[in-house]
Amino acid sequence: MKKANIAVIGCGKLAQNQHISNLMIAKNANLACFCDVSKETLDELHVRFPEVPIETDYKKVLANPEIDGVVIATREEYHVPISIEAMEAGKHVYVEKPLAETPEECEKVLIAEQKTGKKALVGMNRRMAPAYRDAKKILDRNGGMKSAFYRIADAFEIDWGEYYGLGKRLTLECCHIIDILRYFAGSEVASVFCAASRQDEESILLTFKNGATAMILSSGYAPWETPKEHFEAMAEIGLVTVDEFCELHTYGMPGEESCRYYEGHSHVEREQSHKKWIKNDGLKGCVALRAYLADEQRRIEALDHNSKEYEKERHILDYRYPHINYSVDKGWLGAMEHFADVILNDVPVEAARASDGLNVTQIINAIVESRDTGKIIKLDL
Ligand SMILES: NC(=O)c1ccc[n+]([C@@H]2O[C@H](COP(=O)([O-])OP(=O)(O)OC[C@H]3O[C@@H](n4cnc5c(N)ncnc54)[C@H](O)[C@@H]3O)[C@@H](O)[C@H]2O)c1
Repeated sequence: MKKANIAVIGCGKLAQNQHISNLMIAKNANLACFCDVSKETLDELHVRFPEVPIETDYKKVLANPEIDGVVIATREEYHVPISIEAMEAGKHVYVEKPLAETPEECEKVLIAEQKTGKKALVGMNRRMAPAYRDAKKILDRNGGMKSAFYRIADAFEIDWGEYYGLGKRLTLECCHIIDILRYFAGSEVASVFCAASRQDEESILLTFKNGATAMILSSGYAPWETPKEHFEAMAEIGLVTVDEFCELHTYGMPGEESCRYYEGHSHVEREQSHKKWIKNDGLKGCVALRAYLADEQRRIEALDHNSKEYEKERHILDYRYPHINYSVDKGWLGAMEHFADVILNDVPVEAARASDGLNVTQIINAIVESRDTGKIIKLDL
């Protein structure tokens, strides 16, 4: 099978946890180059994957005619400039979310797409999660999503990056949820209302142009054992729920499977055994895994921070998922295979595109405005 040559620009936490390992196993992609400004990061990667070329200057990656596409997983401020340069150099782009903080910046990527004929996919990867792809089909077979509830909740202390100040959970995390609700609704957001009970905890109400509605609970106060994401939606007929990407239920939907479990997800180099727990026990297996990881975290945090033992184990806290990588399939592998398919076969893009990145940024900005003013904000997207 022909494979798309894909380089990764920005080989930090997310790229190492997801894109690199997924490109290693993607059936239609060849990991063509690691590019990072950090020589130390590249040296570490070279030890692990000596067959993959390394490069510190992304401009050299873009000048390489063998490379078909680039995954841009730098932090936010480089998303737009590198995307534009990459498309101008003839590469297709998969750029991490959020595309940019302002609509004006996002628009520059749309202009580059039009000018170059290249495609920019945005890393709002939940559209590629197997459980959500099934949920979408089930909703559509049963008259479409009418109203929905989405919880995304984790621990406040998680570092969301230094770039956005207050509202960064909305910008960096809720962009995924806004996008997936647009996908489920099959419609664009028409208005938003947001209220915050306290810092880093928002309740959001969305209305869609087609009349659908959705509520989001976004919280930074959940104990770490909590399954992070829960989705439920009323269709024209019946209800569908998905817990933590691993357990789907339907209620009152004749002809639909009533319950399905989805296997977990892990890095090729790492522990795989939890995948079996999740495949066999669904949410129960996932909760057991999270409880184990929370115990590990507490154990390490309780160590003397000046001790050798702590020094040896503290990296586990940086990555949170020490032995197993991310535990559930949020669509990262599917996104890489889809990107390669877009490059090789010019298939229609099912992932989020730059235009989705733009609209989601406008919706997030409206949510922040609503939270800060107490007003309902209408959008014309
Ligand atoms: N889709 C998801 O599920 C998901 C999850 C986590 C993070 N993200 C997004 O991924 C992006 C990266 O996050 P992270 O946690 O991996 O950050 P990180 O800081 O760990 O990694 C960024 C990397 O980019 C490198 N870099 C910076 N400038 C560069 C340049 N000019 N050329 C090449 N490399 C350069 C840095 O050295 C670093 O290694 C962020 O935008 C974040 O919002 C997405």
